[in-house]
Amino acid sequence: EGVVVGVDIGGTKVLAGVVDDEGRVARTALRTTPGRRVVTRRVEDALVEGIVEAAGGEPLAGVGVAAAGFVDSAGERVMFAPHLPWQGEPLKHLLEERLGCPVGLDNDANCAARAEARFGAARGAASALMVTMGTGIGGAVLLEGRVVRGANGMAGEFGHMQVVPDGQACECGRRGCWEQYSSGNALVRNVRALMVGQPSVLSDMTDGDPDRITGPMVTIAAEQGDLVARQAFASVGHWLGVGVANLVAALDPEVIVVGGGVSAAGDRLLEPARDALRHTLVGAAHRRIPGLVAAELGPQAGMIGAALLVAEPQPRR
Ligand code: BGC
Ligand code: NA
Ligand code: ZN
Repeated sequence: EGVVVGVDIGGTKVLAGVVDDEGRVARTALRTTPGRRVVTRRVEDALVEGIVEAAGGEPLAGVGVAAAGFVDSAGERVMFAPHLPWQGEPLKHLLEERLGCPVGLDNDANCAARAEARFGAARGAASALMVTMGTGIGGAVLLEGRVVRGANGMAGEFGHMQVVPDGQACECGRRGCWEQYSSGNALVRNVRALMVGQPSVLSDMTDGDPDRITGPMVTIAAEQGDLVARQAFASVGHWLGVGVANLVAALDPEVIVVGGGVSAAGDRLLEPARDALRHTLVGAAHRRIPGLVAAELGPQAGMIGAALLVAEPQPRR
C-alpha cells in the first residue's frame, strides 16, 4: 500500500512526483540541486525533501530515482557524475535506509527513454534513441522498448563523445565533449559570448549580470524575438543534429526522441537539428532519415520513467 514516487535529479534541479501505473502524475515537488562541490549528504537531503513533499504524508510503496550520472549495472551505485558530487555513492542503499521503502536507481536518460517507450514518442518503435538536453546531454539506446545497458551499465553516455579535439573543457574532466556544444550549459555560454557584441533583452532580464542568465530565460527571450537568443538556439540545434547524425550512422534507429529542459523550445531547437542531420548523415539520399521528435512527456519523462523502476525486477541487465 502507499504511493510510488519518481524523482529526477539533474545538475540544476530535483523534480519528484507521485506517479501511477499509467504514468499519470499527481503531486510534484521541485528543489534546486545543491551543486557539485558540496558534501554528498546535502544532495541526498534535497532528494529526500523532494520525495517527502511529493508524497504529501501518504506512505511510500516505493521510490525510483533517475540520476544524472553513471549508474552501475546492479542499479545500486552512482559511480561518477559530471554535474554532481557522487563517486561510487551507494545511493540505493542510503535512500532505502532513510525512506524505509524499496528504491530503484538508474541513469536519468535511461529512465526518460523507458517512459517514452511505454507512454510516449518511442511507443511501438523497434529501435530508438533518447537524447536529453538539460545541464548536459544524456542518452539511451532502446531496442524493442528495452534500454541497452552495456558491460558496466554505462551505455548511452552520448554527451561525452568527443566532437571537437582539444575543444571546450567539460565537467567530466575531458575536452571537446558533445554536451559542451549542445546543452543548457552550451546555450547559456553561447548567449554570453554573443552578448558582448550585440544588444539583447537578456541584459534587461538579468540587470546586466551575465552570470544570472539561465536556459529557461534564453527560451523566453527567443520567443520574444531576441536575436542573440535565437542565434544561440540555432548553434545548439545545429550541434544537436551533427551529434545525432553520428549516432544514426552507428545505430540506424527508427526514431530519435529529444527531451530535457532545453527541448521545451521545440522546433526552435529541432529544426536546425533536422537540417544538420540531413546534411551530415552518411548516405542520406539512400535511406529513410529517422524522425527527430520532442519527448511527449516533456521534462517529466525522467521522473515518470524513474517511477517505472519500482515495478521492474532487479537487476535490469
Ligand atoms: C551525464 C549523464 C546524464 C546527462 C544528463 C551527463 O553529463 O554524464 O549521465 O545522463 O548529463 O543529465
Ligand atoms: Na544513459
Ligand atoms: Zn565530458
